[in-house]
Amino acid sequence: MTDTPSKGTATRRGFLKAGLTGGVALAGAAAAGRAVAAGDPLITEVQDWNRYPGDGVDARPYGTPSQFEAGVVRKNVAWLTADPISSVNFTPLHELDGIITPSGLCFERHHAGIAEIDPASHRLMINGLVDKPLVFTMADLKRFPRHNKVYFLECAANSGMEWRGAQLNGCQFTHGMIHCVMYTGVLLKDILAEAGVTTAGKWVLAEGADASAMTRSIPLEKALDDCMVAFAMNGEALRPEQGYPLRLVVPGWEGNMWVKWLRRLEVGDQPWQQREETSKYTDLLANGKARRFTWAMDVKSVITSPSPQAPITHGRGRTVLSGLAWSGNGTIKRVDVSVDGGRNWHTARIDGPSLSLALHRFYYEFDWDGSELFLQSRAIDEQGFVQPTKNALRAARGENSIYHNNGIQTWHVSKDGVVENVEIS
Ligand code: MTE
Ligand code: CO
Repeated sequence: MTDTPSKGTATRRGFLKAGLTGGVALAGAAAAGRAVAAGDPLITEVQDWNRYPGDGVDARPYGTPSQFEAGVVRKNVAWLTADPISSVNFTPLHELDGIITPSGLCFERHHAGIAEIDPASHRLMINGLVDKPLVFTMADLKRFPRHNKVYFLECAANSGMEWRGAQLNGCQFTHGMIHCVMYTGVLLKDILAEAGVTTAGKWVLAEGADASAMTRSIPLEKALDDCMVAFAMNGEALRPEQGYPLRLVVPGWEGNMWVKWLRRLEVGDQPWQQREETSKYTDLLANGKARRFTWAMDVKSVITSPSPQAPITHGRGRTVLSGLAWSGNGTIKRVDVSVDGGRNWHTARIDGPSLSLALHRFYYEFDWDGSELFLQSRAIDEQGFVQPTKNALRAARGENSIYHNNGIQTWHVSKDGVVENVEIS
């Protein structure tokens, strides 16, 4: 298991497509169950957990995962975390399944640490181009009609370290600035209606109550479409790390706009040109111009297993490949998987609900013949957008960018099942 990602100076490892060999026998049915040698004590002897009663119902008032899952945690990358107050950690995607991220494993991105706010002291203010400026308490907000929605949140900087070559060795680090939970909250349009947006109102500024006072301009059209002011995730109150007691939900759009610890919404007639929409979260192109206000997250996918932190340990034979796909344009229509670096593609099986602007889980089951593989996945969304290769992205946008890298990821599987982040050309 590779736990610590390394910082490559250039490309972590390059491969030429010409050097590829085949890798799998797709037909045939290698058995997944194994014949256990007679006399295995785990079968023939009574174990402690089978003999003695365990903890009672008073021992764990708030449940936590098994002690044997202690390694399934958010992790940071030391060289990216000069100052933990303004930093990021990553969702352990390689250990998860399904489409919902457990609350305690959702990656965190803070610009000034975690604000600890007593909900009784929290207020949400609406001002600017409205008929009636308003201030809501948490209790006030809970009197609006509630909605439950599952959405992914992806930081625009997810995969940002990979623009110039394969670098971080694990999907937790290359793709782990994403999570997907069920939000409960009220529609932004319902609370804006209460204040009455004037006809001049075209933009909404969302402001956080943390020490960074995070501010982003959101077009009124999006605000009135599907944005939510959420107070719960996965059925319980938001976690402090995710903006307790209140956060803005901006479905399908870059995570930076999802202001946590939301304290103020100002209606205006133009964007405010805040730091986070001018010097940050813009993409500097090769010609010196910058793409700005690139809000919707592009169609993207990644194979979460096998991956560098989840190597193949069972040897050749039946192998389950699993991954995640998502798009800021809606649902995922199809995911293709390749085991030979993009020469041949197979349609993966999407399993579980296919919800708009949520993660989609896919699988591809195959018989591994023990030869080296170059695993790739390519997602196609409901609007027909196809996830590009990294080289196609670089040709279009140059290599100055940090944000909005949705290129196809390649994992190299060696004959011994070890997996590594590579690029092929
Ligand atoms: N809101 C506030 N108030 N302060 C912040 O630092 N970080 C933003 C956004 N909202 C931030 C914030 C960024 S860059 C991202 S990617 C998401 O929150 C991260 O959300 P998460 O911590 O729930 O994963
Ligand atoms: Co971010």
